[in-house]
Amino acid sequence: MHNKNNITEKIYWVGTNDRRTHIFENYWPLPKGVAYNSYVIVDEKVAIVDTVEKGTMDEYLDNIEEVLDGRKADYLIVNHMEPDHSGSIRSLVERYPEMKIVGNKKTFPMLERYYGVKDNLMEVREGDSIDLGEHKLNFYMVPMLHWPETMVTFESNNGILFSGDAFGAFGTLDGSIFDDELDLDYLEEEISRYYSNIVGKYGRPTQNALKKLGGLEIKMICATHGPIWRTHIADIVAKYDKWSQYKTDEGCVIVYSSMYGNTEKMADNIARHLVRKGIKKIRIHDSSKTHPSYIINDIFRYRGVILGSCAYNGDVFPTMETLINELEHMGVKDHVLGVFGSKSWGGGGLKRLNKFAENIKWETIEVTPEALCAPGQEDFDQCEALADGMAKRLKELYS
Ligand code: FEO
Repeated sequence: MHNKNNITEKIYWVGTNDRRTHIFENYWPLPKGVAYNSYVIVDEKVAIVDTVEKGTMDEYLDNIEEVLDGRKADYLIVNHMEPDHSGSIRSLVERYPEMKIVGNKKTFPMLERYYGVKDNLMEVREGDSIDLGEHKLNFYMVPMLHWPETMVTFESNNGILFSGDAFGAFGTLDGSIFDDELDLDYLEEEISRYYSNIVGKYGRPTQNALKKLGGLEIKMICATHGPIWRTHIADIVAKYDKWSQYKTDEGCVIVYSSMYGNTEKMADNIARHLVRKGIKKIRIHDSSKTHPSYIINDIFRYRGVILGSCAYNGDVFPTMETLINELEHMGVKDHVLGVFGSKSWGGGGLKRLNKFAENIKWETIEVTPEALCAPGQEDFDQCEALADGMAKRLKELYS
C-alpha cells in the first residue's frame, strides 16, 4: 500500500484491486477488474471488517500490518462467507491467533467447512453490539443478500454501514476510494451489472434489508466491492430500491441467435418498427457474441424483451438456452415478452422460447413469427405486428 487509506481518523481501507482475474465467480466478465474491500478500525480494541480473495492476499496482509503498526487484531467481523471475502481468514487467524471471529450462527459452519477454522468464535445476533472504545459495532442480519449468512455491521458513532456485497460494484478503485473522488460515469454499468448479476435474484431480501436499515443515520456506506459511498448515498440506495422492485424504463431489449443471418434480419426488422412506433431505447444483442452478464443488465433496465432463435438440433440455439436458463434461474420479474424464430424443417427454437414464456410468467405479445428458412414478406408482416404489439403495450405502461 505505501500510503494509509483513512476513511476516518481511525478507520482504514485495507482492500486490494484485482486487475488480473477475467471472470468473477468464474462466470461474470470483469473488463474493469474488481476491488475487494476490507477495513480496519483502530481503537482501544482493533477490529478488521471482512477480508479479501486469496489471490491478492499477500498485499492485503501487508496493508493490515502497515495500519496496525505492531498492534494485534482483536476482532475479525465476518459479514459474508463467499470466498472473495473470506479467502484470507485462515491466514489472518494464523497471524493473529488471539483474534475473535465474529459471525452469526450460519457463518460458523461455513467457516469450518471452507477453512477448518472453529476456535475463538463469537456469535452475534440481531441487535447485538461490540464496543471497541470510541467505536461501537451493531449487527443486523440480512439473510439472502445474497447468501444465507449475510449480515451488515453498523458503526453507530460515525454512522458507517459496512454493508457486505450490498451497494457494491465491479471495477477497481483506480487511485480513489470514495464515490466523490472517482468518475462514477465510467463505473455506471459496473455498478448496475454488479447488482443485476450478483444480487439480482434476491429482490425481496434486498427490499427487506432496505426496510430494516432505513431507520439508521448512515453517513458512509463501506461495501465489499466498489467505491465507499459518502456523497451519493441517497442515489445508490434509490437505485437498489428501484432495481430490487424490478422497476424498469420504457425501452426494449432484443436478443437473437442466428447462424446465417436470417433470424438477425427479423430482429432488425422488429427494431425498425419499434422505433417507428416511438420506442427509442432499443438494445439489440447477438447471444453468440454478448455475454449474458450484459444482456441481463439491459433486461433489468428496460421493460420490453424480445427473444428470437433459429432452430438448432431440434431445439433453441445453445447461447440462447444459456441466457433463458439464467433468466429463469434468477426469476427476473415484470417484463413484457415477445418471441420469434426461424427453422429449416421441424423447428424447435420458437418452441423452447414459448416454453420459456410459460415458465417465466411475464406478460406476452400474442404474435410469434417463425420464418421457414429465410424470412419472406409474410414473416416481416408478422414481425411488424409483434413490434406493434410491444410498442402499444409499452406506451400504455409508460404514458
Ligand atoms: Fe463479493 Fe458475495 O461476494
